[in-house]
Amino acid sequence: RPRVLSGIQPTADSFHLGNYLGALRNWVAMQDTHDAFYCVVDLHAITVDHDPKLLRKRSRIAAAQLLAVGIDPARSTLFVQSQVPEHPMLSWILECHTGFGEAGRMTQFKDKSAKNERVSVGLFTYPILQAADILLYRADAVPVGEDQRQHLELSRDLAQRFNTKYGNVFTVPEAHIIKATGTIQDLTEPARKMSKSNSQPAGIIDLLDDPNRIRKKIKSAVTDTGREIVFDPENKPGVSNLLTIYSSLTETSIEELQNRYADSGYGDFKKDLAEIVADFCAPIAQRTKSYLDDTAELDKILLAGAEKAHSVAAHTLARVYRKMGFREPV
Ligand code: TYM
Repeated sequence: RPRVLSGIQPTADSFHLGNYLGALRNWVAMQDTHDAFYCVVDLHAITVDHDPKLLRKRSRIAAAQLLAVGIDPARSTLFVQSQVPEHPMLSWILECHTGFGEAGRMTQFKDKSAKNERVSVGLFTYPILQAADILLYRADAVPVGEDQRQHLELSRDLAQRFNTKYGNVFTVPEAHIIKATGTIQDLTEPARKMSKSNSQPAGIIDLLDDPNRIRKKIKSAVTDTGREIVFDPENKPGVSNLLTIYSSLTETSIEELQNRYADSGYGDFKKDLAEIVADFCAPIAQRTKSYLDDTAELDKILLAGAEKAHSVAAHTLARVYRKMGFREPV
């Protein structure tokens, strides 16, 4: 079986609909076809200011939510990145094979560093740690949203560079990006992507939001001038984004939705979508809560995941160490 690895940051109290439709939906689907490794990337979460208590809490909530959306610990290895020490160990080695200019071209770094007052070196090397996450497991496929495409290119370049210089160790990973939902836009500013760190609360649907809040947010989503419900991302980004969400949650084609709502205004369309999104999120919130009610069981799942991840990662790292001329880690 080919292998899949992906990661998500525990930087908010809830994942949002963009995370789900852009990435997590594929994580769940790929459990059937791949040997799956999924990771809560808490080491990445400290690249910007963080609160240790909050991070501990959010890592748990993140893991509970992954279970709640359908990650099955019987079929997937679910773990928290900081429990597997090989990630920063490989990251260091990869950093020594990354050009300074190459890292400086990462657009996510440029965006984030322009916004933050205090920019850490860790924020700069963030994509290299991400490459380590992927390469340690020799993953074939990495399901992510569109915003991770450039980071995946870097991971591929680093894998190839290392293999060329030292002999074949790494698999060159491929990004799996869902074309239709690779970028879900902000509900209030549809020209921007829905984002944990940038969006206002009204622009984001959190999976753990309560149903009334969700309905309200959908109903107050920015729509565009005119009244037709047509898919036209360029001229009607707001309506098009809502159509994308509607279509992917109900597995109805955009075309069919355009026909169905040909004679309605935005009001009816949003009212229906509000119910669909609220109904989709409610059971996820429910299941998340019940996983969080039994933290002993949750921690057991994560420990078993970390042990399994560690054995794969240690094996890869030992090969890397030999190639580098290091003694084997003890
Ligand atoms: P993160 O935590 O920001 O986001 C998790 C996943 O959600 C996707 N995503 C979106 N997809 C569609 N529309 C949106 N508006 C949207 N917002 C977020 C992201 O593309 C991502 O797939 N660097 C990664 C975490 C990471 C990782 C890894 C991923 C660390 N190591 C190894 C894959 C493999 C990140 O910040 O994701």
